[in-house]
Amino acid sequence: MDKVLLSIHIVIFGALLLFTRGKSFVQSSSSSHTHPNHTVTSCIASERSALLGFKAGLSDPAYLLSSWKGDECCKWKGVHCSTRNSHVVKLDLQGHGCDPNSDAWTQVLGGNISSSLLGLRHLQYLDLSCNGFYGVQVPEFLGSLHKLRYIDLSSLSFIGRIPPQLGNLSNLQYLNLNSEYFNTTYSMDITWLSQLTSLVHLDLSGTNLTTIVHWLPVVNMLPSLKVLHLINCNLRTSSASLQLSNLTFLETLDLSANGFHTHIARNWFWDLTSLKYLYISSNGFYGQFPDEIGNMTSIVKLDLSSNNLFGMIPSNLKNICSLEEFFVHETNINGSITKFFQRLPSCSWNKLTYLSLASSNLTGRLPTKLEPFNNLIYLDISRNKLIGPMPLWIGELTKLTYLDLGYNSLDGFIHEGHLSGLESLEWLWLSDNSLTLTVNSTWVPPSSLTNIELRSCLLGPKFPPWLRWLTSLDNLDISNTSISDTVPDWFWITASTLYTLKMGHNKISGSLPSTIEFMGATAIDLGSNQFNGTIPKLPISLSDLDLSRNKLDGPLPLDFGTPNLMKLVLFDNSISGTIPSSFAK
Ligand SMILES: *[C@@H]1O[C@H](CO)[C@@H](O)[C@H](O)[C@H]1NC(C)=O
Ligand SMILES: *[C@@H]1O[C@H](CO)[C@@H](O)[C@H](O)[C@H]1NC(C)=O
Ligand SMILES: *[C@@H]1O[C@H](CO)[C@@H](O)[C@H](O)[C@H]1NC(C)=O
Ligand SMILES: *[C@@H]1O[C@H](CO)[C@@H](O)[C@H](O)[C@H]1NC(C)=O
Ligand SMILES: *[C@@H]1O[C@H](CO)[C@@H](O)[C@H](O)[C@H]1NC(C)=O
Ligand SMILES: *[C@@H]1O[C@H](CO)[C@@H](O)[C@H](O)[C@H]1NC(C)=O
Ligand SMILES: *[C@@H]1O[C@H](CO)[C@@H](O)[C@H](O)[C@H]1NC(C)=O
Ligand SMILES: *[C@@H]1O[C@H](CO)[C@@H](O)[C@H](O)[C@H]1NC(C)=O
Ligand SMILES: *[C@@H]1O[C@H](CO)[C@@H](O)[C@H](O)[C@H]1NC(C)=O
Ligand SMILES: *[C@@H]1O[C@H](CO)[C@@H](O)[C@H](O)[C@H]1NC(C)=O
Ligand SMILES: *[C@@H]1O[C@H](CO)[C@@H](O)[C@H](O)[C@H]1NC(C)=O
Ligand SMILES: *[C@@H]1O[C@H](CO)[C@@H](O)[C@H](O)[C@H]1NC(C)=O
Repeated sequence: MDKVLLSIHIVIFGALLLFTRGKSFVQSSSSSHTHPNHTVTSCIASERSALLGFKAGLSDPAYLLSSWKGDECCKWKGVHCSTRNSHVVKLDLQGHGCDPNSDAWTQVLGGNISSSLLGLRHLQYLDLSCNGFYGVQVPEFLGSLHKLRYIDLSSLSFIGRIPPQLGNLSNLQYLNLNSEYFNTTYSMDITWLSQLTSLVHLDLSGTNLTTIVHWLPVVNMLPSLKVLHLINCNLRTSSASLQLSNLTFLETLDLSANGFHTHIARNWFWDLTSLKYLYISSNGFYGQFPDEIGNMTSIVKLDLSSNNLFGMIPSNLKNICSLEEFFVHETNINGSITKFFQRLPSCSWNKLTYLSLASSNLTGRLPTKLEPFNNLIYLDISRNKLIGPMPLWIGELTKLTYLDLGYNSLDGFIHEGHLSGLESLEWLWLSDNSLTLTVNSTWVPPSSLTNIELRSCLLGPKFPPWLRWLTSLDNLDISNTSISDTVPDWFWITASTLYTLKMGHNKISGSLPSTIEFMGATAIDLGSNQFNGTIPKLPISLSDLDLSRNKLDGPLPLDFGTPNLMKLVLFDNSISGTIPSSFAK
């Protein structure tokens, strides 16, 4: 009896096995249709236990590695095996910690990086970027995984010394240890780098290299290098030139936020005329904008911002024909905007997408005519000394998403023609000019607008009717704009999407509706107006409220309903009664 049962069991089990085998055979044969050489790989037992050992050291609160169970480790999330010999060749476990959304930080791995990874002797590719390995050192043992070609441990908040053992990885082509936002790693000796002669991409941003004087000769030993990021590494020395440059393939050089404090013209990187991307902002470079720029004929993105540079950009830029992004904000150009535009190479006018000229002491009037900058996406000329009207050509920049002309002395009128063509515009910042907006009461603004700052421009006396059409506003500043009106009911609906609302310093009257409670705002400034009536219950998200200098009266609400309130300004009203006990919270 027992034997019969057992054999039945075996038969059933065998059938199941056949069934699953058959299924996977179907799968692989269907995929073999597109990839003829694809075979089902099976996990090598020692590598499976290496992976499990690695997993055991991790903390994984979001269960990102829930698929790491069973025998077939080649199918685990992030694990890739060679189709030839089944060895684990790739571990791709990038976390979500670099995503901008706020709960992304929970979608990460943490804990320790176990040396059991050493069991993956055929590993070529390791990506653990954007996870949360706080306070962990870059493991020395990585230097023994000789087949590694690709290491990305960026944005992981590692601490301590970068291990020189990495210099043993002679196959390494890609090394990214960027800790730019943490600044908690360092190296006092980078000679190990010079052994990595296959390196194509190197990023040590955020690594404190302050003690290293001769870093450039080391980098110059890497003849395959295409991309070099050394942002915020506390580098202080630069060389005037590189006699024998090995860096003939270098396309991207980012040395932002170091401290070279040397003359801008006498620098080795100007000899690398094949560079496409050069970022040298915030380095204390000084002197005039160098003529050397005129030889950078391959340049696509050039960031010279936040240095002590002065004078007009050079007149020899006519061969800079690939320029797409040009950043010269926080320099002291101290010359006319018209001349600046004239010196931008005409062969790249229709390629330019980013033009960042804020705080650079540009003077004069914006030219009334300008050859079309058809592809401009971002134009920031704020905080300069511009005078005169806003020209009509700005309204023809149909791809523009960001326009900031704030903090100048522009005057004159803005009408539909200046704005209606800006069909991609999201940010419109014109604050602190003497501009008058005279649009028709029926005007419909670009619906893409999300951020509007028109502080101290003239919009009133009527409450701007065109705001009604904007359904996805994030921030609105129309303070000090001579509005002398009541707030139309529709506005509080429009305003429900806002994070910040600033309408202070107007003559706006009427009472505050109870629907304010349902706004999502964190900051509201309605100060210096003529609002009357009592203060209603407030948005739960609010942290910053100014209602001062109004005609509000009556008692305070028993419960403001604002658990996160940090700043409350109510003076100069006619509020009466007692302070509610909810205040103590
Ligand atoms: C499949 O393998 C054969 C022999 O190794 C090779 O010649 C062929 O290019 C491979 N095909 C693909 C699609 O990889
Ligand atoms: C990581 O290692 C430290 C020290 O060895 C230990 O205290 C900690 O519990 C480990 N973390 C995990 C997630 O295993
Ligand atoms: C790896 O590098 C370290 C430090 O650079 C060195 O001491 C060690 O001998 C190297 N190991 C091997 C196996 O090459
Ligand atoms: C790292 O340095 C940058 C630039 O100096 C700085 O902005 C950032 O706040 C620093 N980060 C930490 C965590 O100290
Ligand atoms: C960089 O390291 C040096 C010493 O090696 C130290 O004095 C300095 O404070 C460090 N800088 C930062 C920003 O951590
Ligand atoms: C260029 O790189 C090679 C390989 O690393 C090295 O042998 C050579 O010394 C380098 N040349 C210079 C001038 O540094
Ligand atoms: C530009 O390059 C030419 C040819 O290589 C060279 O003669 C000239 O000195 C360079 N100009 C500057 C300003 O570096
Ligand atoms: C602009 O010029 C003023 C003097 O008019 C000077 O104080 C300021 O530093 C200059 N701005 C920059 C960014 O150099
Ligand atoms: C700006 O240029 C004028 C001459 O055009 C000069 O007198 C003035 O000192 C310069 N200002 C700054 C801040 O460099
Ligand atoms: C306002 O728009 C209407 C309809 O588009 C038009 O008839 C009228 O002339 C415009 N008024 C002004 C002042 O532009
Ligand atoms: C309001 O704008 C005027 C110019 O229109 C300006 O003179 C004044 O300083 C501004 N007031 C505030 C409080 O910003
Ligand atoms: C608020 O002021 C308006 C006039 O602006 C007036 O009609 C209204 O009665 C006032 N409301 C209260 C509650 O005082």
